[in-house]
Amino acid sequence: MYYGVAYYPEHKTVEELEHDLALLIESGINTVRMGEFAWCRMEPREGVYDFEWLMRVVERLGEAGIKSIICTPTACPPAWLVSAHPEVLYVDNRGRKRPFGGRRFYCYNSPVYREYSRKIAEQIALRFGHSPYVAGFQIDNEPAQEASGRCHCPECRRKFAGWLADRYGSIHEYNLRSGNIFWGQDYDSFDQIEPPVNTIEVSALQDMPVYYENPTLRLEFERFCSQSQIEYQNIQADALRAHTDYPVTTNGTGLATNSIDYYESTKALDCYGFDYYPGLRDAAVDSFPYAFARGIKEGKPFWVMEFMSGGGHRFGGSGRVQPNPGALKQAVVQSFAHGAEMMLHFQFRTFPFGAEQLNYAIVDMDGVPRRRYFEMQETAGLLKHLEPLEKAGFANQAAICVDYDTHWALRIKPVNDPDFVYLDYAGRLYRLLEEQGINVDVVGYEADFSKYRLLIVLSAFVVSDEFREKLKSFAAAGGVVLATFLTAAKNKDNVGYTDSLPAGLNDLFGVTVEEVEPVFAQNHTAVRLDLDGETCESADGCWCDLLSGSAKPLGTYTEDYKAGGMIVSENGYGEGLGCYLGTDLSDEALGKLLSYLAGRAGIEKNKVLAAPKIETVRRVLEGREYYFVFNFTAKAAQVSIQVPMRDYLTGELYRDRIPLERNGFAVVAAEPEENA
Ligand code: GAL
Ligand code: ZN
Repeated sequence: MYYGVAYYPEHKTVEELEHDLALLIESGINTVRMGEFAWCRMEPREGVYDFEWLMRVVERLGEAGIKSIICTPTACPPAWLVSAHPEVLYVDNRGRKRPFGGRRFYCYNSPVYREYSRKIAEQIALRFGHSPYVAGFQIDNEPAQEASGRCHCPECRRKFAGWLADRYGSIHEYNLRSGNIFWGQDYDSFDQIEPPVNTIEVSALQDMPVYYENPTLRLEFERFCSQSQIEYQNIQADALRAHTDYPVTTNGTGLATNSIDYYESTKALDCYGFDYYPGLRDAAVDSFPYAFARGIKEGKPFWVMEFMSGGGHRFGGSGRVQPNPGALKQAVVQSFAHGAEMMLHFQFRTFPFGAEQLNYAIVDMDGVPRRRYFEMQETAGLLKHLEPLEKAGFANQAAICVDYDTHWALRIKPVNDPDFVYLDYAGRLYRLLEEQGINVDVVGYEADFSKYRLLIVLSAFVVSDEFREKLKSFAAAGGVVLATFLTAAKNKDNVGYTDSLPAGLNDLFGVTVEEVEPVFAQNHTAVRLDLDGETCESADGCWCDLLSGSAKPLGTYTEDYKAGGMIVSENGYGEGLGCYLGTDLSDEALGKLLSYLAGRAGIEKNKVLAAPKIETVRRVLEGREYYFVFNFTAKAAQVSIQVPMRDYLTGELYRDRIPLERNGFAVVAAEPEENA
């Protein structure tokens, strides 16, 4: 595993640099990421390049066995570029130019900026592309972060109109498919179309009713902006690739903004990279972002380019609490267990100046190594012992299936706002399955489903014909599909289907939706699950798709006018099953339902027994099961096991239970029967 830190040599005096390099080298880490905001040093004047300051550091580190990840600096164009070309500036949804002086103030569609970006990426590749001390390249920094992913400049407006013209062919077709006759919005030509003011951009100004603009136009603009940033990224990827064979990626914001479709954006990259800042003080670190990351390129290893390093001050004010002793190490091993191939702390030494002054880091401003540094050192040593397990595969048989069109459509027209957040709901099902002792993958709609037995189609609000066919083939071949409420309500134009819901899937699920409504605090209604004789009481939640049809009811309303109505269903389809969950349920009921469906799908549970706040990750190497077990209970704990297991690090044999320290973890392997 690549393990290390982000570092900023351009901030340092000669003495500070010497001091820091010595500490970095002694720490035992093997990777340092550099360069992502240093354009003004790399190209101090137009066409005049200086990479020697960086090359010297790369070489010093490299000679000591530490590889560098070199970033393109395009999140921060230099002052000379912006003075000469103010047209490259980002324009927000209220028409305000974002000025020079921060970061991410450029338009990713600007042809001028694209060309400057291509050139600096090319120069970087020429200088570092063949260095034996480089491990890879990061393009830009956190594309679309800090409300920089929905530019409204004149260039973007022009390009968006052209993009719609290409997709729809004629304005008549566009008017028809987007229902522009509603509120008399028919256009005469594409150049009359303005990008919508409201977008899903996190922290954008939205002082206009969100329903005001056409939902088709809005979804198209989200797609257009995502695609434009992918184009921009790929211009840099191509420029780098022309002069290097090292892996090229970028650092997405993970689940934080989600305004770029990562399934698309990662196609032309070597791996998916993202940044993650979970709390580490007696907190269970959510592994859903890792499962999500692993699914982006269908199981290929992913890179965590920035990860929590400590507490103290925080760039946005307020501050951040320190990790518990052991929590950094535990979190790094957890990312390894979930398939991370790189883990870099943000960042090495606290900045005294600039927007992120006093911000948390591994080492404080005074440069004195303290507990976080020593824990990083210990972690680096530990990872060497775990290295052979890098090759262990994931053999998960359940997957949650998510999609950006639906995610965006549900942000454009939210359902039970703010309680229902599509990707949070995916995370909830993920955790409930884990709590049942079932590890699960998270995949996009284009993934190969054939290796799974249970597929959870998360509230697929927007669906295509192809996807519906894919679900049917999966079930016909013996798989169990569970679709949750709101599935197949709209087509890819973000327009409602006029068939009975779930549109085009009534045969798969054996149901028709009779009526729908949100479920708020005042209209919860009691539901009873009947899972092969085991019953469980719950209330509905979030949303209700009341069902009728020939499917077998797994859940039925027990009160009010809905009494007797079906809300959870199971239907035989080909060799498999189509199941529909018309509402949300309590954790307990949902856990039972998922466990029942996993049983119907023939999924075997983990042999380390599930327990609250203990996470278990199963990997398989050469036919042998390995379990990574993490204690997030904030005290010492024990977990029960079904078969004898041997501690991979200490060699100890456990027969019934594995002991775990506070913030501790264990890596164990099922003991072959003859030794047990
Ligand atoms: C990230 C960003 C870093 C730094 C960090 C602060 O989102 O990529 O450059 O700003 O947050 O925690
Ligand atoms: Zn623009």
